Amino acid sequence: MKQRVVAPINQRELEFTDRDFERIRVLIAERAGIVLAEHKRDMVYSRLGRCVRNRGHQCFSAYLDWLNGRSGAEAWQEFVNALTTNLTAFFREPHHFDLLASHIRDRRDPVRVWSAGASTGEEPYSIAIALEEALPTLTRREIFASDIDSEALTRARNGIYPLDQVRRQVPENQLRRGFLKGCGRRSGYVRVRPELARQVHFEPVNLVGQHWPVQGRFDAIFCRNVMIYFDRETHARLLERFARLLKSDGLLFVGHSENFTNITQRFRLRGQTVYTLA
Ligand SMILES: C[S@@+](CC[C@H](N)C(=O)[O-])C[C@H]1O[C@@H](n2cnc3c(N)ncnc32)[C@H](O)[C@@H]1O
Repeated sequence: MKQRVVAPINQRELEFTDRDFERIRVLIAERAGIVLAEHKRDMVYSRLGRCVRNRGHQCFSAYLDWLNGRSGAEAWQEFVNALTTNLTAFFREPHHFDLLASHIRDRRDPVRVWSAGASTGEEPYSIAIALEEALPTLTRREIFASDIDSEALTRARNGIYPLDQVRRQVPENQLRRGFLKGCGRRSGYVRVRPELARQVHFEPVNLVGQHWPVQGRFDAIFCRNVMIYFDRETHARLLERFARLLKSDGLLFVGHSENFTNITQRFRLRGQTVYTLA
Protein backbone atom coordinates (compact mmCIF):
# COMPACT_ATOMS: atom_id res chain seq x y z
CA MET A 1 0.00 0.00 0.00
CA LYS A 2 1.19 3.51 -0.74
CA GLN A 3 2.22 5.50 2.29
CA ARG A 4 -0.06 8.49 2.76
CA VAL A 5 1.42 10.16 5.86
CA VAL A 6 3.23 13.39 5.03
CA ALA A 7 6.05 14.53 7.33
CA PRO A 8 6.27 18.30 7.80
CA ILE A 9 9.34 19.73 6.05
CA ASN A 10 11.21 20.44 9.32
CA GLN A 11 10.75 16.84 10.53
CA ARG A 12 12.04 15.12 7.42
CA GLU A 13 14.66 12.53 8.24
CA LEU A 14 15.84 12.13 4.64
CA GLU A 15 17.51 14.95 2.77
CA PHE A 16 15.26 16.00 -0.12
CA THR A 17 16.44 19.01 -2.12
CA ASP A 18 14.93 21.08 -4.95
CA ARG A 19 17.34 19.37 -7.30
CA ASP A 20 16.13 15.92 -6.15
CA PHE A 21 12.54 16.94 -6.81
CA GLU A 22 13.48 18.23 -10.29
CA ARG A 23 15.28 14.97 -11.09
CA ILE A 24 12.24 12.97 -10.00
CA ARG A 25 9.95 15.13 -12.12
CA VAL A 26 12.07 14.52 -15.21
CA LEU A 27 12.36 10.78 -14.59
CA ILE A 28 8.65 10.12 -13.99
CA ALA A 29 7.69 12.25 -17.01
CA GLU A 30 10.08 10.20 -19.18
CA ARG A 31 8.96 6.85 -17.77
CA ALA A 32 5.20 7.33 -17.39
CA GLY A 33 4.26 10.71 -18.90
CA ILE A 34 3.21 11.87 -15.43
CA VAL A 35 3.60 15.62 -14.88
CA LEU A 36 4.28 16.31 -11.21
CA ALA A 37 3.09 19.74 -10.16
CA GLU A 38 5.06 21.81 -7.66
CA HIS A 39 2.53 21.16 -4.89
CA LYS A 40 3.19 17.39 -5.12
CA ARG A 41 6.52 17.78 -3.30
CA ASP A 42 5.27 16.41 0.05
CA MET A 43 3.50 13.55 -1.66
CA VAL A 44 6.69 12.65 -3.51
CA TYR A 45 8.72 12.75 -0.29
CA SER A 46 6.28 10.54 1.52
CA ARG A 47 5.77 7.95 -1.24
CA LEU A 48 9.29 7.73 -2.58
CA GLY A 49 10.91 8.07 0.85
CA ARG A 50 9.86 4.49 1.49
CA CYS A 51 11.83 3.31 -1.57
CA VAL A 52 14.84 5.40 -0.47
CA ARG A 53 14.84 3.73 2.96
CA ASN A 54 14.04 0.23 1.71
CA ARG A 55 16.96 0.41 -0.68
CA GLY A 56 19.24 1.42 2.19
CA HIS A 57 19.96 5.02 1.19
CA GLN A 58 20.28 7.97 3.56
CA CYS A 59 19.09 10.65 1.15
CA PHE A 60 17.16 11.07 -2.09
CA SER A 61 20.17 12.02 -4.18
CA ALA A 62 22.00 8.78 -3.30
CA TYR A 63 18.87 6.80 -4.19
CA LEU A 64 18.45 8.66 -7.49
CA ASP A 65 22.13 8.11 -8.40
CA TRP A 66 21.68 4.41 -7.64
CA LEU A 67 18.42 4.26 -9.62
CA ASN A 68 19.96 5.97 -12.64
CA GLY A 69 22.61 3.28 -12.77
CA ARG A 70 20.06 0.45 -12.86
CA SER A 71 19.26 -1.20 -16.14
CA GLY A 72 16.92 -3.87 -14.69
CA ALA A 73 13.20 -3.27 -14.63
CA GLU A 74 12.50 -3.96 -10.94
CA ALA A 75 13.87 -0.78 -9.35
CA TRP A 76 12.28 1.39 -12.03
CA GLN A 77 8.94 -0.38 -11.65
CA GLU A 78 9.08 0.28 -7.91
CA PHE A 79 9.81 3.97 -8.63
CA VAL A 80 6.83 4.25 -11.02
CA ASN A 81 4.52 2.30 -8.68
CA ALA A 82 5.37 4.71 -5.86
CA LEU A 83 4.39 7.76 -7.89
CA THR A 84 1.14 6.64 -9.50
CA THR A 85 -2.17 7.57 -7.93
CA ASN A 86 -4.58 4.63 -7.92
CA LEU A 87 -7.73 6.21 -6.52
CA THR A 88 -10.72 4.39 -8.01
CA ALA A 89 -14.10 2.92 -7.11
CA PHE A 90 -16.70 0.47 -8.40
CA PHE A 91 -19.26 2.16 -10.67
CA ARG A 92 -17.46 5.50 -10.43
CA GLU A 93 -19.51 7.96 -12.51
CA PRO A 94 -22.45 5.55 -12.82
CA HIS A 95 -23.94 7.23 -15.90
CA HIS A 96 -21.02 5.81 -17.93
CA PHE A 97 -22.12 2.24 -17.17
CA ASP A 98 -25.74 2.98 -18.06
CA LEU A 99 -24.64 4.47 -21.37
CA LEU A 100 -22.31 1.55 -22.07
CA ALA A 101 -25.16 -0.90 -21.38
CA SER A 102 -27.56 0.84 -23.78
CA HIS A 103 -24.82 1.22 -26.40
CA ILE A 104 -24.08 -2.50 -26.64
CA ARG A 105 -27.54 -3.89 -25.87
CA ASP A 106 -28.35 -5.18 -29.38
CA ARG A 107 -24.93 -6.51 -30.33
CA ARG A 108 -24.24 -10.07 -31.35
CA ASP A 109 -20.54 -9.79 -32.13
CA PRO A 110 -18.09 -10.23 -29.33
CA VAL A 111 -18.30 -7.05 -27.31
CA ARG A 112 -14.86 -5.64 -26.56
CA VAL A 113 -14.04 -2.97 -24.00
CA TRP A 114 -10.65 -1.64 -22.88
CA SER A 115 -10.13 -0.19 -19.42
CA ALA A 116 -6.89 1.76 -19.94
CA GLY A 117 -5.59 2.76 -16.50
CA ALA A 118 -7.58 0.11 -14.67
CA SER A 119 -5.81 0.60 -11.34
CA THR A 120 -6.85 -2.05 -8.79
CA GLY A 121 -9.64 -3.49 -10.95
CA GLU A 122 -12.80 -1.77 -9.78
CA GLU A 123 -13.40 -0.16 -13.19
CA PRO A 124 -13.03 -3.28 -15.40
CA TYR A 125 -15.06 -5.44 -13.00
CA SER A 126 -17.81 -2.79 -13.02
CA ILE A 127 -17.73 -2.99 -16.82
CA ALA A 128 -18.00 -6.79 -16.64
CA ILE A 129 -21.05 -6.56 -14.37
CA ALA A 130 -22.69 -3.92 -16.61
CA LEU A 131 -22.13 -6.05 -19.74
CA GLU A 132 -23.44 -9.17 -18.05
CA GLU A 133 -26.62 -7.35 -17.07
CA ALA A 134 -27.10 -5.82 -20.51
CA LEU A 135 -26.26 -8.93 -22.53
CA PRO A 136 -26.80 -12.00 -20.34
CA THR A 137 -26.96 -14.38 -23.31
CA LEU A 138 -23.85 -13.17 -25.10
CA THR A 139 -21.03 -15.60 -24.48
CA ARG A 140 -18.18 -13.52 -25.84
CA ARG A 141 -17.48 -10.44 -23.78
CA GLU A 142 -13.88 -9.38 -23.74
CA ILE A 143 -12.60 -6.80 -21.31
CA PHE A 144 -8.99 -5.83 -21.65
CA ALA A 145 -7.70 -4.05 -18.53
CA SER A 146 -4.28 -2.45 -18.30
CA ASP A 147 -2.17 -0.25 -16.07
CA ILE A 148 1.45 0.79 -15.71
CA ASP A 149 1.46 0.01 -11.96
CA SER A 150 2.39 -3.64 -11.36
CA GLU A 151 1.21 -3.66 -7.72
CA ALA A 152 -2.19 -2.30 -8.70
CA LEU A 153 -2.46 -4.98 -11.39
CA THR A 154 -1.64 -7.74 -8.90
CA ARG A 155 -4.44 -6.56 -6.64
CA ALA A 156 -6.75 -6.25 -9.64
CA ARG A 157 -6.04 -9.81 -10.77
CA ASN A 158 -6.74 -11.11 -7.26
CA GLY A 159 -10.19 -9.56 -7.44
CA ILE A 160 -10.59 -9.52 -3.64
CA TYR A 161 -12.02 -6.42 -1.95
CA PRO A 162 -13.20 -5.46 1.52
CA LEU A 163 -16.94 -6.07 1.86
CA ASP A 164 -17.39 -2.60 3.43
CA GLN A 165 -15.96 -0.91 0.37
CA VAL A 166 -18.06 -2.94 -2.03
CA ARG A 167 -21.25 -2.35 0.01
CA ARG A 168 -20.63 1.41 -0.20
CA GLN A 169 -20.00 1.40 -3.95
CA VAL A 170 -22.11 -1.38 -5.44
CA PRO A 171 -25.92 -1.65 -5.33
CA GLU A 172 -27.15 -4.78 -3.52
CA ASN A 173 -28.42 -6.66 -6.61
CA GLN A 174 -25.13 -6.13 -8.44
CA LEU A 175 -23.21 -7.14 -5.34
CA ARG A 176 -25.01 -10.48 -5.39
CA ARG A 177 -24.58 -10.82 -9.14
CA GLY A 178 -20.90 -9.93 -9.15
CA PHE A 179 -19.29 -11.19 -5.94
CA LEU A 180 -18.93 -14.15 -3.61
CA LYS A 181 -18.78 -13.39 0.10
CA GLY A 182 -15.82 -14.79 1.98
CA CYS A 183 -16.23 -16.84 5.12
CA GLY A 184 -13.96 -17.94 7.96
CA ARG A 185 -10.55 -16.39 7.45
CA ARG A 186 -11.93 -14.48 4.49
CA SER A 187 -14.98 -13.04 6.15
CA GLY A 188 -15.22 -9.29 5.65
CA TYR A 189 -13.99 -9.70 2.06
CA VAL A 190 -15.63 -10.48 -1.25
CA ARG A 191 -14.22 -12.04 -4.39
CA VAL A 192 -15.31 -11.26 -7.94
CA ARG A 193 -17.28 -14.25 -9.25
CA PRO A 194 -14.94 -16.47 -11.34
CA GLU A 195 -17.24 -16.42 -14.39
CA LEU A 196 -16.98 -12.60 -14.43
CA ALA A 197 -13.28 -12.51 -13.59
CA ARG A 198 -12.61 -14.82 -16.56
CA GLN A 199 -13.90 -12.12 -18.93
CA VAL A 200 -11.31 -9.60 -17.77
CA HIS A 201 -7.80 -9.93 -19.12
CA PHE A 202 -5.18 -7.87 -17.23
CA GLU A 203 -1.97 -6.77 -18.89
CA PRO A 204 0.70 -4.16 -18.10
CA VAL A 205 0.56 -1.32 -20.62
CA ASN A 206 2.40 1.98 -20.45
CA LEU A 207 0.14 4.41 -22.28
CA VAL A 208 3.09 6.61 -23.22
CA GLY A 209 5.08 3.59 -24.43
CA GLN A 210 5.70 2.82 -28.11
CA HIS A 211 4.12 -0.61 -28.07
CA TRP A 212 0.61 -1.41 -26.87
CA PRO A 213 -0.17 -5.15 -26.84
CA VAL A 214 -3.68 -4.38 -28.03
CA GLN A 215 -5.33 -5.79 -31.11
CA GLY A 216 -8.57 -5.35 -32.97
CA ARG A 217 -11.15 -2.69 -32.37
CA PHE A 218 -13.14 -1.87 -29.28
CA ASP A 219 -16.78 -0.97 -28.71
CA ALA A 220 -15.63 1.28 -25.90
CA ILE A 221 -12.43 2.53 -24.32
CA PHE A 222 -12.44 3.76 -20.74
CA CYS A 223 -9.49 6.03 -20.01
CA ARG A 224 -10.78 7.86 -16.99
CA ASN A 225 -8.78 9.96 -14.55
CA VAL A 226 -5.52 8.91 -16.18
CA MET A 227 -4.82 11.56 -18.82
CA ILE A 228 -5.30 14.15 -16.11
CA TYR A 229 -1.69 13.37 -15.12
CA PHE A 230 -0.32 13.96 -18.64
CA ASP A 231 0.46 17.09 -20.67
CA ARG A 232 -1.41 18.39 -23.73
CA GLU A 233 0.91 16.84 -26.32
CA THR A 234 0.47 13.45 -24.68
CA HIS A 235 -3.32 13.92 -24.69
CA ALA A 236 -3.26 14.61 -28.44
CA ARG A 237 -1.06 11.57 -29.15
CA LEU A 238 -3.17 9.24 -27.00
CA LEU A 239 -6.47 10.44 -28.46
CA GLU A 240 -5.12 9.74 -31.95
CA ARG A 241 -4.09 6.23 -30.93
CA PHE A 242 -7.42 5.56 -29.20
CA ALA A 243 -9.31 6.76 -32.29
CA ARG A 244 -7.57 4.10 -34.40
CA LEU A 245 -8.57 1.37 -31.92
CA LEU A 246 -12.29 2.14 -31.72
CA LYS A 247 -15.04 0.64 -33.88
CA SER A 248 -16.64 3.31 -36.07
CA ASP A 249 -19.46 3.84 -33.54
CA GLY A 250 -17.24 3.20 -30.50
CA LEU A 251 -17.29 5.30 -27.34
CA LEU A 252 -14.44 6.88 -25.40
CA PHE A 253 -15.17 7.46 -21.71
CA VAL A 254 -12.99 9.95 -19.84
CA GLY A 255 -12.88 11.28 -16.28
CA HIS A 256 -15.28 13.80 -14.79
CA SER A 257 -12.76 16.66 -14.91
CA GLU A 258 -11.27 15.85 -18.31
CA ASN A 259 -12.24 17.76 -21.46
CA PHE A 260 -10.53 17.16 -24.79
CA THR A 261 -12.81 19.11 -27.09
CA ASN A 262 -10.12 21.69 -27.92
CA ILE A 263 -7.33 19.16 -28.32
CA THR A 264 -8.54 16.85 -31.06
CA GLN A 265 -10.59 16.89 -34.25
CA ARG A 266 -10.92 13.09 -34.10
CA PHE A 267 -13.60 13.03 -31.42
CA ARG A 268 -16.76 14.91 -30.67
CA LEU A 269 -18.49 15.11 -27.33
CA ARG A 270 -21.53 12.86 -27.23
CA GLY A 271 -22.59 13.46 -23.64
CA GLN A 272 -21.14 14.13 -20.23
CA THR A 273 -17.45 13.08 -20.56
CA VAL A 274 -18.22 10.59 -23.37
CA TYR A 275 -16.83 10.98 -26.88
CA THR A 276 -17.54 9.37 -30.26
CA LEU A 277 -15.43 9.51 -33.42
CA ALA A 278 -16.03 12.71 -35.38
C1 LIG B 1 -6.65 7.64 -10.61
S1 LIG B 1 -6.40 6.05 -11.30
C2 LIG B 1 -7.85 5.89 -12.29
C3 LIG B 1 -8.45 4.52 -12.22
C4 LIG B 1 -9.76 4.34 -13.00
N1 LIG B 1 -9.57 4.54 -14.40
C5 LIG B 1 -10.84 5.25 -12.47
O1 LIG B 1 -11.16 6.25 -13.09
O2 LIG B 1 -11.36 4.96 -11.38
C6 LIG B 1 -5.12 6.38 -12.51
C7 LIG B 1 -4.39 5.15 -12.99
O3 LIG B 1 -3.62 5.49 -14.15
C8 LIG B 1 -2.44 4.72 -14.12
N2 LIG B 1 -1.42 5.34 -14.97
C9 LIG B 1 -0.70 6.48 -14.75
N3 LIG B 1 0.19 6.66 -15.74
C10 LIG B 1 0.02 5.64 -16.61
C11 LIG B 1 0.66 5.28 -17.85
N4 LIG B 1 1.66 6.00 -18.37
N5 LIG B 1 0.24 4.16 -18.47
C12 LIG B 1 -0.76 3.41 -17.94
N6 LIG B 1 -1.39 3.69 -16.79
C13 LIG B 1 -1.01 4.80 -16.13
C14 LIG B 1 -2.07 4.71 -12.65
O4 LIG B 1 -1.19 3.66 -12.33
C15 LIG B 1 -3.42 4.60 -11.98
O5 LIG B 1 -3.73 3.28 -11.64
